Amino acid sequence: MTAESSIMMVSHGLYGTLWMLSCFGLFLSEDLQFSGPANGAVGGSVVFAPDNPPSTSINIVQWQFGSTLILIAQSDSTTIVPEYSDRVSFDINTLALELWNLRLNDSGIYRLTVVPSAGGQLTGETSLQVFEIITNVRLISPEESLIEGESSANISSEGTGSITSVQWMKDNSPLSPSNSIIFSSDNRSVSISPVQRSDSGEYQCTYRNPISSETATLSLIINYGPEEVSIKGEDVVDLGARVSLSCSANSKPAASFSWKINGTDTDVTTDTFIIDYTDFTHSGEYICTAWNSVTKRNATQKHALLVKGGGGGGGGLSSGAIAGIVIGVLVAVAGICGLTVYLIKTKKISKINLRQNGPARGAAQSRQEPDLNYADISHFQKASGERVNLGNKSEFSTEYADVKHGGKSRAPPPPYGSQVRK
Ligand SMILES: *[C@@H]1O[C@H](CO)[C@@H](O)[C@H](O)[C@H]1NC(C)=O
Ligand SMILES: *[C@@H]1O[C@H](CO)[C@@H](O)[C@H](O)[C@H]1NC(C)=O
Ligand SMILES: *[C@@H]1O[C@H](CO)[C@@H](O)[C@H](O)[C@H]1NC(C)=O
Ligand SMILES: *[C@@H]1O[C@H](CO)[C@@H](O)[C@H](O)[C@H]1NC(C)=O
Ligand SMILES: *[C@@H]1O[C@H](CO)[C@@H](O)[C@H](O)[C@H]1NC(C)=O
Repeated sequence: MTAESSIMMVSHGLYGTLWMLSCFGLFLSEDLQFSGPANGAVGGSVVFAPDNPPSTSINIVQWQFGSTLILIAQSDSTTIVPEYSDRVSFDINTLALELWNLRLNDSGIYRLTVVPSAGGQLTGETSLQVFEIITNVRLISPEESLIEGESSANISSEGTGSITSVQWMKDNSPLSPSNSIIFSSDNRSVSISPVQRSDSGEYQCTYRNPISSETATLSLIINYGPEEVSIKGEDVVDLGARVSLSCSANSKPAASFSWKINGTDTDVTTDTFIIDYTDFTHSGEYICTAWNSVTKRNATQKHALLVKGGGGGGGGLSSGAIAGIVIGVLVAVAGICGLTVYLIKTKKISKINLRQNGPARGAAQSRQEPDLNYADISHFQKASGERVNLGNKSEFSTEYADVKHGGKSRAPPPPYGSQVRK
């Protein structure tokens, strides 16, 4: 296969067939081998160098692009054609051709022909594909709000550069076609119809070519609900209790809430309905309505509240009421006891005061209450004119008996005694 016939074939072929041709070239056992086709970026550079340059001395070297001559070199001189003179260099030792300031139409077959001094001809060819670097990739989101089960979403992509593939991911996993997810034939847009809440997420679209890639991302929000409205809170409470009913719903965006009682609107527009202090009129049916302003849907839930109390429901006393009564009784009993003790003390002391001397009274008051009675007795005894020794209890008991006896015999019982015993 001669260089000329090869060039003729290339000139007939389109870029799509370049690969085949270069394969043919290898199949026909080209003498000069190149390691694979090359890729270049517009404005960039590329070097074509044979893997097996001849070791013998060389007479003529020729580089061609398709049918166009780029350069002819001999051992002592290199001639570059004017079209390439400002963007080509050549190394006679390695036979490498460097081409810079690449343009898209530099894509094609490059052919090297070597004529050794010994005669004959060695040929080899390689191919170059020049790409524009991919830039400005972006995704265009649907303009309107997307509602689950109703809306369709078309996500389309844009970008500049030579695009050889477009790949889509959702939340870092490949996005696959399905009944509701359809890709355009060039993969540059995807249509989801109808959208489901599971379609919410981050979409990534990557434009690629062999020399560059760029990814754009887009967050898709699918609105839904409200649904699963529920009310948490008390259903039976005692009179006076605090009640807090809390309404929730599954909704995107978050639902807003309103409340009705017995079918009548209230002005409560929060998720929680609070009654600080219940009375019987607070019993009734509480209805929470959750409203999604994007889906324009609402959903409700009902909750029955019963306020009960002593006598009101006829169901007997509540534990609170019983506790109240018990406490009241205890307080009353304690009060009576206290009054009794007080009366006993004051009557005795006042009585004693009439009979005792100053110093003895002071000593009595400094004692503790139980002792006070004994002291009173001692004073009483003193008043009766008898001797008492309080340091000995058994002795005192005897004396006390005597006193009582003596009291009986010498003085009438104090008038207060019968009053207190009543
Ligand atoms: C290749 O493209 C450049 C512009 O990028 C143009 O000036 C040149 O004439 C083109 N060459 C051929 C052979 O078409
Ligand atoms: C989505 O794209 C398809 C064509 O691929 C078109 O028929 C449809 O109207 C588009 N839908 C929206 C919501 O833009
Ligand atoms: C579109 O993408 C799918 C998978 O992501 C791929 O199999 C297919 O070849 C692509 N089609 C085009 C025209 O890029
Ligand atoms: C709701 O209705 C019940 C029974 O008809 C009534 O007892 C209750 O007081 C009502 N509640 C309110 C808050 O109006
Ligand atoms: C709920 O929706 C119904 C119709 O679906 C409407 O009549 C009603 O007013 C709505 N309620 C609220 C609170 O938006």
